[in-house]
Parts: sequence; structure tokens; C-alpha cells
Amino acid sequence: MVDITAIGEVLIDFTPAGLSEKGEQLFECNPGGAPANVVVVLSKLGRSTAIIGKIGEDQFGEYLTRVLRENGVDTKGLVKEKQANTTLAFVHLKEDGDRTFSFYRNPGADMLLGIDDIDLEQIKDTKIFHFGSVSMTHEPSASATLKACTQAKENGALISFDPNLRPALWKDLEQAKIKIKEGLALADIVKISEEELEFITGLTDLEEGTHQIQTQFKVKVILVTKAEKGCFVRYGSGSKWADVPGFKVQTVDTTGAGDAFLGGFLYQLLERGGSIDQIRDQDWIPIVRFANAVGALVTTQKGAIPAIPTYKEINKQIQSTGTDLFIESYRPQFHYSPPAMWMNDPNGMVYFEGEYHLLYQHHPESTVWGPMHWGHAMSKDLVNWETLPVAMSPDHNGAIFSGSAVVDWKDTSGFFEGGSGLVAIFTHADIYPDSDRPRQRQSLAYSKDKGRSWTFYTGNPILSDVEITDFRDPKVFWMEEAGVWVMVLACGDHIRFYRSANLKDWDFASEFGKSDGSHYGVWECPDLFELSIDGSNQKRWVLIVSIGDNPDYPEGSKTQYYIGSFDGWEFVNDNAPDTVLWLDEGRDNYAAVSWSDIPEEDGRRVIIGWMNNWRYANQAPTASWRGAATLPRVLSLTSRNGSVVLTQMPVQEVEQLRKESHSWSDVAVTPEVSFIHKTNEDLLEIEANIDIRSGDEVHIQLKSSGQTATIIGYDPVREWLFIDRSKSGLTDFNPSFACKHGARVVPENGGIKLRIWLDRSAVEVFANDGLVALTDQIFPDDPIDNVWISTESGRAELNSLHIHTLSSIHKPEGCTEQISRRVNV
Ligand code: FRU
Repeated sequence: MVDITAIGEVLIDFTPAGLSEKGEQLFECNPGGAPANVVVVLSKLGRSTAIIGKIGEDQFGEYLTRVLRENGVDTKGLVKEKQANTTLAFVHLKEDGDRTFSFYRNPGADMLLGIDDIDLEQIKDTKIFHFGSVSMTHEPSASATLKACTQAKENGALISFDPNLRPALWKDLEQAKIKIKEGLALADIVKISEEELEFITGLTDLEEGTHQIQTQFKVKVILVTKAEKGCFVRYGSGSKWADVPGFKVQTVDTTGAGDAFLGGFLYQLLERGGSIDQIRDQDWIPIVRFANAVGALVTTQKGAIPAIPTYKEINKQIQSTGTDLFIESYRPQFHYSPPAMWMNDPNGMVYFEGEYHLLYQHHPESTVWGPMHWGHAMSKDLVNWETLPVAMSPDHNGAIFSGSAVVDWKDTSGFFEGGSGLVAIFTHADIYPDSDRPRQRQSLAYSKDKGRSWTFYTGNPILSDVEITDFRDPKVFWMEEAGVWVMVLACGDHIRFYRSANLKDWDFASEFGKSDGSHYGVWECPDLFELSIDGSNQKRWVLIVSIGDNPDYPEGSKTQYYIGSFDGWEFVNDNAPDTVLWLDEGRDNYAAVSWSDIPEEDGRRVIIGWMNNWRYANQAPTASWRGAATLPRVLSLTSRNGSVVLTQMPVQEVEQLRKESHSWSDVAVTPEVSFIHKTNEDLLEIEANIDIRSGDEVHIQLKSSGQTATIIGYDPVREWLFIDRSKSGLTDFNPSFACKHGARVVPENGGIKLRIWLDRSAVEVFANDGLVALTDQIFPDDPIDNVWISTESGRAELNSLHIHTLSSIHKPEGCTEQISRRVNV
């Protein structure tokens, strides 16, 4: 079985190549022909391909056969013609890299392909069959093309068609239209330009034009290529489409860009099993982004086939931030999310020389969890983030699981020739030799250039334990009083503490927690630090422990904390072992740990979590990426009713996002008289002081123009603050997602104070100066555009209310005019 067979013109593109000494135009001989370009893309990406066509018995024919063979294309269907020469096309480049053609084809060998030249047996065994209209301009190749295509279709191949209208090649454009329509009637996948769409349907509106083609010809996927603006794709039987922005590149020659795009698309289709019906809605954007990247890269060099990129180059392009993060539905606009692909835990957060580093668990080749790398982002203000190249990739010791980073100020490690630099301490994850048992060992990497490049320590791993399987996520800090590095490590059902003088050699100090706090899942991602209570000289230590998902509990993964003392050896819990304190009462804040080395003058303990939940993280309905971080939050301790608890608030720097502010005071709400504020924005900060002495339940609803609403509510009778996301939009990707959940909040002076941040698909709620935090993701069907406050029954008073619209940290990239604000997925 071959993956793809293409039929049609194989020809020479003569591409302009400067001027001769005498000042005459020179041309470079490049292999080409749209169907040939498509199959070479797939060959280069490792797929099996074949070509059917006709060449002359001449040097050019031999050259083409050789190039195709060298690129791994099966050329036994390429037959020779005595009566005509290999077709030649001269390309005339315009200044912007766009081109016109003159064809030397009177006739060219390609037009003389007859049905008898084709081995119909060969066609029976192909998964995809691809053709265009250039081989349908004349007989006998027109009948041969259609016959071969019909044969492939009857044998179950997916049919891909490119109308590829070249007016100069047709005697009559009406005939072109008839033939293209015959092609459309056979096709499952059509790649078409905006001009071609208009030529066939008479429509310039892409939604309408593609809808017409879809209904008239029963085409399953229509890809409208819009050059550097990207691609509009219609898919599914109903009204689904997405507009996927293109990549900005240095274009020198657009020859073959559309073919390369299509090759990239078909490659992705084959990678996902080759069945269009099985592609999930959220995968269309990554698929088309990949195709856009292939198309864009081909324009960066002259010729088509010679310019086809490798998989690595394509991936690099996708990783670049060159797409418009402004327009994707659900893409957070002021929370960090990777430009593409998967993210989970924040890792290695460290402040060094004016830069906050945020590294993170990252799978750069997929939107689901896989071989872990450390992705990297950097910010100077904890608000605006720049994505840097991937910091660490798996090596012979395994994948790079979670961990921390520190500044080794005194060069205790000896990595920095007496200076200072960054050291990452992380888990290397692989399996024990000749077994399935996971092996997790701690390792080091260091950076001498402010985190821009990392070197693995040659003595890795530096800490292992053959008894304990879950042995991971080291968090390291320098304990000045003890003059020692301390490592906090998650070990299945407890935490272990280790000590070191040089970050390389570690001694066990103690363990904590086998019977303290919550144990419903495996313990992960610990952190330990000291904080003062209410800003006084009195201090306590805070130990953070994340708990993995356990299907028996509704919450999924969640994070707890302990308050106690730590003397450099041992942690002692201040509370009774059965006390459970949650860091965040929402569903989407996991694996939160804090920044290392924030200067003493600043003095803040800033923490950031993964805004997701292992219960459904791999299914979240985002498209080109999955996973984001919470807002960075400052942690403090406060004493309430005799016990010490943690409070948290987003860092003050986020106030720079405020655009427009509206304020109200003394607003009474009832079920009949709601407070309604239309915002037309889905990036908001809301501050509400609510008098709840009437005892009636208050709802703040974040509504979209559709049917959906996310409710942030307070029930004074139960003293319960909740988020109800059961009707928040898309919820059916996992049965646990639609839910109402919350936490006890005791009113203060007859009221509660709420601060809420809404970032398109993220809601963070803080009550009473951060005593309780609730973080949730939502996937509204339409963008949220109004805030609606009322009671269930009775009446409540809003003492004060401020609503700020916020700006995005992503800079829109030029092409937004033609694109609706959101991508419809
Ligand atoms: C927590 C976690 C860590 C592990 C990492 C792997 O979310 O399971 O324990 O190091 O993710 O990606």
C-alpha cells in the first residue's frame, strides 16, 4: 500500500537567477509540476509516494525522473513520450516574490498521457489519490486523469484535488470551469485559492463560497489558501470552519507554496490515521498550522522541490511566535501560555539579573503530554512574557520532568569559575533497564548565559533511590542560617528533605507527611519557604504539596499546604495531622511553586501554578496549544481566629493591564432588578464589595451573547463562595468538567470582598484579600461580553463595584482585518 499517488504534470520550472555578465536574464532549471511538488513534500516527511505522468525522451525528462527518485518517489508510473518534449515553464518573478508563468507546451509530453499509459492496478493500492486541473486542459490526459481518479475512488482512496487554475493553458475558461467541477465532484479534499473560489462560485465571501462547494459537491474538507494570511478551512458536515493565520517569513519565491501547503496537510492527515471523519474538532487548527508552516517555508528559497523543508524546520517554524495569538478562541491574553503545543507544570522559576524565568513542562511536538522538555519564557515584569527556545530536551538519562532552578551566587557547584550562574535541579525520567518500571532520578543542568543555554552536568544523575518509584520534582533553596542547600522532594506519599553544600552531593535529612494532610493521590511538586505573619517579625514555614488525580475523587488534581517549622533538618506541622489546607479551592491550579532568588528588597514570595487539572488536561478543547499558567501571585501569612493561614493575590504588576475603568457604589440588586454591564470585552478585572447581611444568595454572572454563563456566587447562609461552570460553554469533553464547587468564606463586617480576573477562558476569584482563591478554566461558546449581578431571591447591596477592561499582552500581527476576532473551533 502506498500512502499517496499523484497524477499529472511533471515539468521544469525555469526560475529567474539574476543577470549574465552581458546583462541578460538567467534562468535556473528547477524540477516542478504541482502534483510532483505535493508528493515530494510527503516523501521528505517519510511517507511512501508514487507519481503518474508523462515526460519527453530528453535530458529534462531524465533529470526529473532522477530528482523524483532521489527524493524517494516511486516513478514507475512516469512514462516517456516520443512525440513531444518535457513541458517547460518559465517563471517570471515580481518584486514581492509572486510570479507569472509562460508554458512551453505545444503540446508538452504531459498532455499526451493516455489511459493506456496508466497501470490501473497501481492505483488500487493507494490511501490518497491527488490530482489537479492542469492535466485536464487537453485530451487525452483529461480523460486519463478522470478515469484514474474514478478508479482510485472506487478502491476506497481519499481524493485530493487542487483546481490550480492556469487561464493561459485553457482554450476557453468555460471549459476550465466544467472540468474543475468534474474534479470537485470526485474530491474529498479540495485546496483552492480565493480567486479560484470566486471563479467557481462567483462568491468572494469565504464562508459562503466554501459552504456552496461543500453542499453542491459533497466535499469533506475545503482549504482556502490566502497566501501569507494563512488558510480558511471548512470541515465537518455542518457549519464548522477555522481561520488559521499564516507565518511571516522572508519570501523570495512563492513557486510551489500551495503544493507544499497541501503536502503538509495530507501528511498530518496520514499521521492521524488517514480518515477525515476521525479528526477531532480541536485538531484542525494544529493540522492547518503545520500546513501553513510548510507553505511559508517553501517561499523562503527559490524553486519548489529544492525549497521543501524538513520536519525539523517545519517544527521550528511552528514553535516560533509568528502567529497571531490575539485571535485564537480560548487563548489567554494575559496569562502565559505556550505559543504552540503542550504545557504542564511551571518549572525552574528563578529571578536573575532583572529577568523572571518561567520554565515549564513542555511537549514541543504535540498538544498532549509526552516526552517532557523544559519550555522557557522570560519576563521583566511578571506580566509580559517572551517565549525563548526550548531550554532542555530529553537526553540519554531520560525525559526532563519537573524541578527548580537557583542562582548559585557563590559558585558552590564549581560550574561558574568563581562567578555565579543558574543551576537547574530536576528529575530525569526513564525506565529501569529491561523492565517497565519507571525510574526517576535527580539531575543538574547549568547556564552561564542567563538561562539562554543549558548544559547537563556530566555527573548526572546526582540523587537516586531504587526503592521509591515516585521520586521526583526537586525544589531547592539556599538556607542562609544553616549555610546549606536544602532539597524538598516528592516521594509518593511523603516528602523527603536532603542537604548539600555544592548541589551535587546530597544527604538525607528527614521525611514528612505519611499521615499528615490529604493523601488521595500521589504527592508531587513540593515547595518550602518561610513567610512572616501579617508582616510582623513572627515567621512560619509553608510546605506546599500537590496531589495527583485519583478517579475516585471528583476534584482531580489539587494542591495542599502545611504551616509549620523547619530547622534545616526537619519540618514539624503546626496543625493536627488530619487538618487539610487547600492552596486553591478551584479546579484549575496545580503544581504551583514559587520563584527563587527574588531580591530581598522586593521581599515577595511569588508563586505560579499550572492552570489546569490532570483529570481533563489532555482533552481541553483548545486547538494549537494546551495548558497555561495562573497569574503570578504573592503569598502572605495571616492569623485568623487563632490559626495561621495563607493568603494570595495576583502581583501588583497586573494593574498595568487596566484599560478602561467603570465604578459604581450603593447598587441594590434583586432577581427582578439585576445590575447589567455590557462590556464587549472578555478581558476583565472586577472588584466588588458586597453587603450580604440580608442573607440572600448573590450571583455575578459572566455571560456571553449565547446561552452560556459562568456564575460566581455567594451563599450567606452556608457562608459559601462558589463557581458554577456547569453552563459555561463547552463542557462535554470530560464528565468532570461541568460542575459547581467552592469553599467556605466567612463574611467580614457583614460583607465579602471579591477580586475577579477574567481572561477569555480563565477565571480567578479571590475573596477577602486573598483568604480564599478559586481558579477555573471555562470555554464559553461565544466570547463573554457582559457582567450580570443579581440575587436568587431577596436583595443584596453592592457597596462598591469597579469593572476594568484589560489589555492583551499579545501584540496583534497585521493580518487581523480579514480575520474575525476569534477562530471558530
Ligand atoms: C505533575 C507531574 C510531576 C512530573 C511532571 C511530568 O504535574 O506529574 O510530578 O514531574 O508532571 O510532566
